[in-house]
Amino acid sequence: MDGTKEVLGLRNVSSHCSISEMDDYDLSKLLDKPRLNIERQRSFDERSLSELSIGLTRGGVDNYESTYSPGGRSGFDTPVSSTRNSFEPHPMVAEAWEALRRSLVYFRGQPVGTIAAYDHASEEVLNYDQVFVRDFVPSALAFLMNGEPDIVKNFLLKTLQLQGWEKRIDRFKLGEGAMPASFKVLHDPVRKTDTIIADFGESAIGRVAPVDSGFWWIILLRAYTKSTGDLSLAETPECQKGMRLILALCLSEGFDTFPTLLCADGCSMIDRRMGIYGYPIEIQALFFMALRCALSLLKHDAEGKEFIERIVKRLHALSYHMRSYFWLDFQQLNDIYRYKTEEYSHTAVNKFNVIPDSIPDWVFDFMPIRGGYFIGNVSPARMDFRWFALGNCVAILSSLATPEQSMAIMDLIEARWEELVGEMPLKIAYPAIESHEWRIVTGCDPKNTRWSYHNGGSWPVLLWMLTAACIKTGRPQIARRAIDLAEARMLKDCWPEYYDGKLGRYIGKQARKYQTWSIAGYLVAKMMLEDPSHLGMISLEEDKQMKPVIRRSSSWNC
Ligand code: GLC
Repeated sequence: MDGTKEVLGLRNVSSHCSISEMDDYDLSKLLDKPRLNIERQRSFDERSLSELSIGLTRGGVDNYESTYSPGGRSGFDTPVSSTRNSFEPHPMVAEAWEALRRSLVYFRGQPVGTIAAYDHASEEVLNYDQVFVRDFVPSALAFLMNGEPDIVKNFLLKTLQLQGWEKRIDRFKLGEGAMPASFKVLHDPVRKTDTIIADFGESAIGRVAPVDSGFWWIILLRAYTKSTGDLSLAETPECQKGMRLILALCLSEGFDTFPTLLCADGCSMIDRRMGIYGYPIEIQALFFMALRCALSLLKHDAEGKEFIERIVKRLHALSYHMRSYFWLDFQQLNDIYRYKTEEYSHTAVNKFNVIPDSIPDWVFDFMPIRGGYFIGNVSPARMDFRWFALGNCVAILSSLATPEQSMAIMDLIEARWEELVGEMPLKIAYPAIESHEWRIVTGCDPKNTRWSYHNGGSWPVLLWMLTAACIKTGRPQIARRAIDLAEARMLKDCWPEYYDGKLGRYIGKQARKYQTWSIAGYLVAKMMLEDPSHLGMISLEEDKQMKPVIRRSSSWNC
C-alpha cells in the first residue's frame, strides 16, 4: 500500500487488498449534475465534425456520425427499441434484456457494471463473476442506445478511481495510467459494506496487463458523450487526467522504430498465449481509435495541448504504417511472394526482411481476387497472416482503414463467409493453429486447441462490431444474415461465450453460458440495425488530413 494520495477524494490503495473505507467517494454527487446540456451537445458535434472531416464516399453513412440520438427512456424494464418498433421484435430481444439486467453489478446501491457471465451451472467461477472493462463495452452501448446512460457514467467514474490505485506485481510497480482488466464488488451482509477488488494483471492467468482496457475506456467516454450530448463528464479534471495518464503510457518515447505499440502476448481480448505478441492488430486498431477519440475529448488547455500535438503526430505515422505494411490483398500478397531478401538501406522494398518461404500455404487459397484485410502482426522478418475479426472491424469503425480498404474487408467477409462466419458469427481468428505449431505458439494450451476458444473459435460478442462495420460500409444485409444465424441458436444454447469447430457449430468446450457480452452484443447489433443513427457513438469519420496511401496493389484496381 502506498500512502494517501488523493484521487477523486480517494485514498490510493494497493490493488492487492480490499478496504471497505477506501471508497468514500459518492457517485451520486456527480449524478446530480444536469444530464443534458443542449449547448454543449451542439458544440461537441461541431467539434467532431470539423476535426474529423469527410466520410465515406461509396455507400457510406457519414451523416450518422453527427446524429445525436439518445434512446429516450420508456420505463426501466422496457427496452425502448421494442416499444419504438413498428414490427414485432424478435422474442429473443426481451429475453436478452432480462438476462442483461440480471447481470447488473451494484456498488452501494448504484449499478456500476455487468458481470462477465451469470452461469450458475458452471463448476468453476474463476473470474467470470467480475466486471471486465472490455466485456462491459457492449453492455454500455446497449444501455446508451436504450437511453440509460447513468450506469455508463457510474462505470466510467468507478474505473477511473481504480486507475488511481497503486498497481504492483510482486515488487514491480505498473504504470500509473493502467486501467484494470476487471473488478469485483464484495458485499458484506453483516457489516453492510461494499468493497471493490480490482485486477490489473497481477491476478490474471499469465499475469499480463490489459493494454486494451484504457483504450476501451476512452472509446466509451466518447460514446457516452456522443450519445448523451453531455460534455461535462469528459471535461471534468478527473476524466481529463485519466485520459492523459492512459495516453502517457502509450505515447512515451523509447527504442521504437515503428509507431505501432509493442505488446506482450495475452494483453487484449485474446488474454492467453496465442502468438499475438509484438504488434497485434487488435491493439493497433484500438490504439488508433482511442487516440482519435481522445483528440475530440481533450481540452485545449496547457496540459491537453501537449498531448493533442503528440496524438496528431502519432496518428499520422500510425495510419501510414498500418495502411502500408499491415494491409494485405491479392496484389500485395503477390508482391511479398516475389520479395527479394537481405536488402539494406533506404531503398529496400522488403523493409522488414520477410522471407517469402515463411508465407503459410493457406493464405494463397484464402485470398480472393477482390478483398483484403489487415493482417495480425508485422515485425522484423515476421508477418502473421492470420485474420483477426476485432482488429479489422475496429479498423473500419475508427477509419484506420481507408474507405476502399473498408470495402475490401467487407468483400473478403462475403467471399470467405464459410471460413469467417460459418454457422455462428464470428470467428475471432482464422485459421486455427494446429499440431506442432500449436505446441510451440500456445505452449500446448489445452483451452486453445484448434478451432476452439481464441484459436479459431466463434464469438457471438463480435456480432455487434460486424454489424457496426456493415452499417458504416453500407452493407446492412451482411449483418442481417449474421444476426439470423445467431438468432437460430443463441437463446436455445443459453448465450454461450463461444462456439467451437471449423464452422462454429458446437457450443465451446469450456464456454460459459449466459455470457453477458454475447447477450449485450446481440442487443447492440439489433438496435443498430433498427436505428443506424446509433452508429455515430462508436464510429469515426475519415480524417482528410490523414491522406490514404496511394498503392498500386489495391484490390479495387483489379
Ligand atoms: C476470457 C476472454 C476475455 C474476457 C473474459 C471475461 O478470458 O478471453 O476476453 O474478457 O473471458 O469474459
